[in-house]
Amino acid sequence: MVSYKELGLVNTREMFAKAIDGGYAIPAFNFNNMEQLQAIIMAAAETKSPVILQVSKGARAYANQTLLRYMAQGAVEYAKELGWEKPQICLHLDHGDSFETCKSCVDYGFSSVMIDGSSLPYDENVALTKKVVEYAHQFDVTVEAELGVLAGVEDEVSAEESHYTKPEEVVDFVSKTGCDSLAISIGTSHGAYKFKPEQCTLDPKTGRLVPPPLAFDVLEGVEKQLPGFPIVLHGSSSVPQEEVDTINAHGGKLQAAVGIPEEQLRKAAKSAVCKINIDSDSRLAMTAAVRRVFDEKPAEFDPRKYLGPARDNMKKLYIHKIVNVLGSDGKAE
Ligand code: G3H
Ligand code: 13P
Ligand code: ZN
Repeated sequence: MVSYKELGLVNTREMFAKAIDGGYAIPAFNFNNMEQLQAIIMAAAETKSPVILQVSKGARAYANQTLLRYMAQGAVEYAKELGWEKPQICLHLDHGDSFETCKSCVDYGFSSVMIDGSSLPYDENVALTKKVVEYAHQFDVTVEAELGVLAGVEDEVSAEESHYTKPEEVVDFVSKTGCDSLAISIGTSHGAYKFKPEQCTLDPKTGRLVPPPLAFDVLEGVEKQLPGFPIVLHGSSSVPQEEVDTINAHGGKLQAAVGIPEEQLRKAAKSAVCKINIDSDSRLAMTAAVRRVFDEKPAEFDPRKYLGPARDNMKKLYIHKIVNVLGSDGKAE
């Protein structure tokens, strides 16, 4: 058993309370490798933003859970070395799919876990979430739950269509489970293809696809039922078209990739949404930089020469999100 407190990590309780009061959101960035982690920490330290390092079940299998735990511990020390005296870094399990996975993360030094029972019947979601909360709270680990289903593939939970969260269910769910935050479905989805072209309109000036707006009425309904309770938005990548263009200009083939417009995320960040999940944008930033080097310098084979530019590009993206979209800069001085 390793306590996250020994690793210098924090849970989400205080960061969420401050974010709701201050009208901003905490970035939750997924990581699978050293360059992503370095870029996240450099961006958070430079902007003094609290940050949530997210690890999916797939990332845990890819990178090894022991190594990940030490990487998170190393991240705290690295942040201090960068001049961030009191880093506020949370290590969070993204889309935990069973009690056993969540327990293992609590036991391995995570400071927060998500139990994603959103694809289960309501009562089973309540029962599973409650079981995780009862275990995690013994160690002061915070728990994110989910109600409503996002379209697309949720890690290993698949859903063809989204089912918006029902505001009339949230009070019952939160009081029965004791969860610390709630992920809701208001039209976001995972990945770089969030909307089918037929759901979008075409901007005649740019030739780009414009997606339908998020269901802010559902978010307002949830906020009315649960005033001041931390709400989480998954699937919040914006799919920057410059990165998509760079990828396609250097041999990639991403067609009709569409994300959530940043102005909608800005609006959400000012509400009770206090955690915004971003993974795909980082993947795009990394891929664009690597493809550019491979295409422009075909003789290059030193990984530092293509992973270095990838890291720089991800850092730029993270700083942009923190400063221009979520507004979390300067909140962890
Ligand atoms: O919600 C899904 C995250 O983007 C993680 O994706 O399961 O491929 O690591 P992954
Ligand atoms: P994106 O695919 O939009 O980056 O969403 C990531 C996410 O929700 C991780 O849980
Ligand atoms: Zn997610």
